[in-house]
Amino acid sequence: MSASGEVRPPAAKLHGRRTGRPLRRSLQHLIDEELPRRALTLPDPPALPDPPALLDLQALFPSCREYWLEVGFGGGEHLAAQAAAHPHVGIIGAEIFRNGIATLLRSLVEQRSDNVRILEEDARALLPLLPEASLTRVFLLFPDPWPKTRHHKRRFVQPETLDLLAAAMVDGGEFRLASDDPGYLTWMLRHLLAHPDFEWLAERAEDWRHRPEDWPQTRYEAKGLEEGRPPAFLRFRRRARRSNAGLCA
Ligand SMILES: C[S@@+](CC[C@H](N)C(=O)[O-])C[C@H]1O[C@@H](n2cnc3c(N)ncnc32)[C@H](O)[C@@H]1O
Repeated sequence: MSASGEVRPPAAKLHGRRTGRPLRRSLQHLIDEELPRRALTLPDPPALPDPPALLDLQALFPSCREYWLEVGFGGGEHLAAQAAAHPHVGIIGAEIFRNGIATLLRSLVEQRSDNVRILEEDARALLPLLPEASLTRVFLLFPDPWPKTRHHKRRFVQPETLDLLAAAMVDGGEFRLASDDPGYLTWMLRHLLAHPDFEWLAERAEDWRHRPEDWPQTRYEAKGLEEGRPPAFLRFRRRARRSNAGLCA
């Protein structure tokens, strides 16, 4: 409880594994040597009722002109390809699985990309710290589907996360999602179509059945295709904020 008597809300519990097989020595070396200079560390939360200090994205990416976020990048295939294709975009990648982070680091070093910062934490902790209208793109590719009904509250797509993403995104910014799980796909569509700040860009079935050319494949997608799980690719636009101009006081 804070001095003012307010109770700090409990942090949402994170479900998912942080480590897998022991890392090969070369990957452990990347974690030891490369992660510290490419890591994004969030500030400790202030005591309530103080508002949290927002991230300074310009300071984080001094030579970048816009900022993107990828949530749960896995082995980072999509993130590394986007970083190489868009060297003037600063990309935050959030992932809790160390082995995936090490794989991404290897790609970034090999391709000499310096425009990615890695958050080794629950992406939900980052969202309230992003400045208003700061992200032009957000990616959520094949998030854990949590198929059991009693686990649906663990899904990343929730009204609260969509509110925070909408606040952090610029007008016209794009939110890209993919899933090969019919249950989570329906959930994504239901929540995003119900949200006042997002509009679906699909005009015909082809638009969600086929991955756009500027959307590199992830390992999870490739595995799903091999195993007979066709993916869907969703593109949503962040609607323009309503202007207050012209309103009477
Ligand atoms: C099914 S995998 C998909 C990985 C990758 N996007 C792909 O398509 O290959 C989901 C990933 O999201 C990560 N993840 C789950 N919840 C997360 C969270 N709250 N914040 C950051 N990463 C998360 C998991 O560790 C896992 O690597």
